Amino acid sequence: MPESLKDSAEAALPAIAAKVVKWQKASGRNDLPWQNTRDPYRVWLSEIMLQQTQVATVRDYFARFLQRFADVATLAAAPVDEVLGLWSGLGYYSRARHLHLCAVQVMERHGGSFPTSAQELQTLPGIGPSTAAAIAALCFAERVAILDGNVRRVLTRVLGFAGDLSLALNERELWRLATQLLPRRDLSESMPRYTQGLMDLGATVCKASPVCEVCPLAPLCVARRLGQMQRYPVKTRKVRRSAQSIWLLLAQTADGCIWLSKRPSPGVWGGLYCCALFDDRESLQAALPKHHHAALHELAALTHMLTHKDLYLHPVQVLLPKSARPSADGAWVAASDWPRLGLPAPVRKLLMQVSGSPTHGDASA
Ligand code: ADE
Repeated sequence: MPESLKDSAEAALPAIAAKVVKWQKASGRNDLPWQNTRDPYRVWLSEIMLQQTQVATVRDYFARFLQRFADVATLAAAPVDEVLGLWSGLGYYSRARHLHLCAVQVMERHGGSFPTSAQELQTLPGIGPSTAAAIAALCFAERVAILDGNVRRVLTRVLGFAGDLSLALNERELWRLATQLLPRRDLSESMPRYTQGLMDLGATVCKASPVCEVCPLAPLCVARRLGQMQRYPVKTRKVRRSAQSIWLLLAQTADGCIWLSKRPSPGVWGGLYCCALFDDRESLQAALPKHHHAALHELAALTHMLTHKDLYLHPVQVLLPKSARPSADGAWVAASDWPRLGLPAPVRKLLMQVSGSPTHGDASA
């Protein structure tokens, strides 16, 4: 965007949160079945259902689920087939499988209480960065930004953000701006309102064909000033971004060797050297004999954006004897050698973090 517009948009940032909060109170949706509660079980259930499904459809399913599974313990104890049965008709069935797995993990890993931060929520199955932020903001008033499709439309229009969201760097910049826009005061009241307000604006006002006359942000909306509402969000490549969760086993020996193998090509990080990767925590554990499980140490999850894909990375650190072989192909690589190999950038960072080694050369991928 032109510098002058960018400057004026950034100057308007503090006003945006206040306007959204005020509008949500007066004109937003305040009587949906999953509102007027800060119970993370209800909010989580609704957010998962709402990921790819309209509010009108979710209402009935939400009620039926709550009737059968009143809390996370009941859901976790149910056979997954029953969960899939009740989900029938909502589509995207991996959501239902993850829902059940998530409930089991909340029971097993968190003693039956949902974690309260977006960072921790993201480590659970089926919960990506935006859903984690929605739960943390709505239930625990954490100051974190959501950025689903509707909210992307609202923010790119208001800010006149013309960066191509097919590119990870622009997507990242929009997250940064979304975070700057968040309320700074009375978070306990303002964060849930603001978060819901952005969703409501996107769903009911700032639609594909916007109704700017009733929009609280119209006076400071760059897209409206330019008369170019249809231009935003800019996305040249229409391929849908996909997402993948990956568990990384950062295995090292007492003398600093790291377990690495070359990634198959094509595929994520094809041709680069990498630690052992797994689709889920269970498979990662299964790669090691039981007596090593207690030594597994889970690190904070992180998101890594590729061009078409968001990778949700779940690093797990473990110290092993040289005799262990965490994957069929691979080898222990000495501390003096591995920094020289072509490693994916986030893997290099993680390995440096766990080994305290110096950086080497430029990061790949
Ligand atoms: N879409 C995603 N989350 C939502 C929510 N909390 N309320 C309404 N629509 C939504």
